[in-house]
Amino acid sequence: MKVDVYFTTNFIEKDEQFSNSIVIMIDVLRASSTIANALRNGAKEIIPVDSTEKAAELYSKLSRETRILAGERNGMKPTGFDLGNSPFEFTTDIVKGKTIILTTTNGTKLFQKAKNAKLKIIGSFVNSEAVINFICKNILQEITPENININFLCAGNFGQFSYEDTLCAGYMINQLIQSISHVEISDASHAAKSLYHQYSDNLKDFLKTKEHSSYLKSIGFLEDVNFCLELNLCPVVPIIHTYNAQMGLYSIRLN
Ligand code: MLT
Repeated sequence: MKVDVYFTTNFIEKDEQFSNSIVIMIDVLRASSTIANALRNGAKEIIPVDSTEKAAELYSKLSRETRILAGERNGMKPTGFDLGNSPFEFTTDIVKGKTIILTTTNGTKLFQKAKNAKLKIIGSFVNSEAVINFICKNILQEITPENININFLCAGNFGQFSYEDTLCAGYMINQLIQSISHVEISDASHAAKSLYHQYSDNLKDFLKTKEHSSYLKSIGFLEDVNFCLELNLCPVVPIIHTYNAQMGLYSIRLN
């Protein structure tokens, strides 16, 4: 089994590139963490959409009783949306049984990648242990590890590297290699793991000073940053299923 990391979404995907892979999609701040919290609080599903226009169009076609339109641009709730992208907005009262159409700047674009992957999972610090346990205990019991690769895809920020996504991948790689033998580590995985070790003693404090954390703090979302950098608050495994293949839409649900 080879473990690899993509630090940004800025790569051209070849047709079969991920066909033999489990893919873990990471946008720590905040899309992956918000999705994990929404599903933990009983949301039926999340449909990730890459533009506000597509999101509004799909919303208009769904049942009024069960739909929620959510997301952000520049971190803020777009005009006319029901919710933004703060995990705290997705409470049980609001999301239980609901279909959430979500559009965010980087995360929901990431989720469109790796179309042919065997399995696509949403990962973040808040659900990292649940994701790694699921892979080790459920998936790798059924598939011989030699026949599958694990790829971590980081959202990054506007096509650029981000520390929070990379260190989350490094943290999960570290967990993975403690549970599975015969893992081949790519240079990128090694770099992510080494960076994680470098900052593991003060991970949260370090990440709170970095670019997207600082931006979110500056617009009043310090509590979101604290939430998203916390380990294992939301022990759920969000899986990306096909929702409508013709329209290229996915539905993120618990397995
Ligand atoms: C994104 O997808 O770019 C993020 O989730 C942005 C954010 O809401 O902080």
